[in-house]
Amino acid sequence: MEKKWWHGKTAYQIYPKSFYDTNGDGIGDLRGIIEKLDYLQELGIEILWISPVYLSPFADQGYDIADYCAIDPIFGNMEDMEQLLKEAKARGIAVLMDLVVNHCSDEHPWFVEACRDPEGPYGKYFYLRQVKDGKLPCNWRSYFGGPVWERIGETDWYYLHVFHKKQPDLNWENPELRQEIYRMMNWWLDKGLAGFRIDAIINIKKPLPFKDYPADREDGLCDMGTVLKDAQGIMEFLDEMRDQTFALHNAFSVGEVFNNKQEELPDFIGDQGCFSSIFDFSQTVEGKSPRGWYDSRVPGPDDYKRCCFESQRKSEGIGFFSNIIENHDEPRGVSYYLPDYAQNPMGKKLLAAMYFMLKGLPFIYQGQEIGMENMAFSSIEEIDDVNSRCEYQVCLDAGLNREEALKVVSLYSRDNARTPFQWDDSANGGFTEGTPWLGVNPNYREINVQSQEKDPDSILSFYKQMIRLRKDPQWKETIVYGETVPLMEEVSGLMAYLRRGREREILVLGNFNPKELSVPAGQSMEEGQILLNNAESLDIQGGNISLKPLQAVVLGIMHKNNG
Ligand code: GLC
Ligand code: CA
Repeated sequence: MEKKWWHGKTAYQIYPKSFYDTNGDGIGDLRGIIEKLDYLQELGIEILWISPVYLSPFADQGYDIADYCAIDPIFGNMEDMEQLLKEAKARGIAVLMDLVVNHCSDEHPWFVEACRDPEGPYGKYFYLRQVKDGKLPCNWRSYFGGPVWERIGETDWYYLHVFHKKQPDLNWENPELRQEIYRMMNWWLDKGLAGFRIDAIINIKKPLPFKDYPADREDGLCDMGTVLKDAQGIMEFLDEMRDQTFALHNAFSVGEVFNNKQEELPDFIGDQGCFSSIFDFSQTVEGKSPRGWYDSRVPGPDDYKRCCFESQRKSEGIGFFSNIIENHDEPRGVSYYLPDYAQNPMGKKLLAAMYFMLKGLPFIYQGQEIGMENMAFSSIEEIDDVNSRCEYQVCLDAGLNREEALKVVSLYSRDNARTPFQWDDSANGGFTEGTPWLGVNPNYREINVQSQEKDPDSILSFYKQMIRLRKDPQWKETIVYGETVPLMEEVSGLMAYLRRGREREILVLGNFNPKELSVPAGQSMEEGQILLNNAESLDIQGGNISLKPLQAVVLGIMHKNNG
């Protein structure tokens, strides 16, 4: 594998609306990010992904862009953005923005113009079709519910939107549109952006011409996941994008790619791949039902382990996945993957260590580093997210009552991760002096940065330790490039793996069980150096390691011969 500048770094995702508000309007802003750069530097972050801050009507929280080259006034202005890039650079932090180019906003001038003149040049930037007999061009279901086709005013023209109806899909088959997008990307990269996180990218290639698929629910529609399996030729677009943008700037790119197949992985993340990396979503999709959240199952520790190991095997020798336990589209990882008995600081550190030591680029989502948890929503009115509201309706349609539906939605809702960041124990967790746009989790009094900063045993301190370890000249090479070798996979509740480097090895052990677990210790383990431990001690005796409930330990081992 070719070495790249971003290997070995630790990345952090900011959801700007909920990070830090500096002007009291209840909404996080760019100046808020600038103010907290020292915090991020101190944590050890070297790559920062900022969710969309472009001009937007916020039908999908900024993932509906009305102007790719303007900052939305709720976040600040272009000077703030430029200052952020400069200040981040001064602290050794590379900034990524979100690239949302499967669709734009229906308020983008391209779409406004397309509606005015569907047969004109901007009509070809979108998928517009005339519907004469009431029969839509295809029966695909949008991700946020209902058909993907929406009528343009009183005309007989319809447009395609695979997400919200305020997010019309851009027509990637049109070379002019593609050039327009590459120009915009280069404009940002020239400004000093280090790269992009690329949103929903698998959707840019549709199977054409439009046709119906077998319906998979009562609504007579078909899930986009099924539809997209039929799409051929996305790599031509993605390779072109790489050649005309990222490659010219040595930029970093991480794709939001779901359901990638083993044989495609080299095309995505190999040395000649279209992206630097893609997210590993295998654990987030585990247990999800095509029928909706009400029919889904939350993965347990053994599922979690299996998903991680499968991805490690898939990517070995090919490239790097980007590893996460949560993001702005997922519930909080500690509330989701950990059994009830493990939802405490020790369990949170255990989960953290297990994913952090995997091969790949670790991403931390804001608040994860202090163990922020899901929100206890008491009514659907407290949830803002379009997707959650859609799934709530799906629950009701399936016959659940309101209480049951709220319970389901609370478990999976994207708003769990979108509640404001908890900085201290003052009002609103120190996030804003005004009224926060989304309710703050009441547990901010216990879970906040201020209370953890000075505590060497806090979750925050544990994250700092892990990040420091990734940078430690002695262990860096092994952590970044070492082969992942799963161990004792059949032992339930145990997650154990080696990271095998040329001269050193790292052994990672985690006990997800509520009771002690004894594992045979090879001689090398007994000679290992404890690099990380979420318990006070490590019990090695008579050839066995006895792991306490929820204990996670990372041992560093030097190979004998190279000593
Ligand atoms: C991605 C984003 C999500 C958004 C969707 C549509 O999945 O992460 O937040 O709703 O794309 O842009
Ligand atoms: Ca603000």
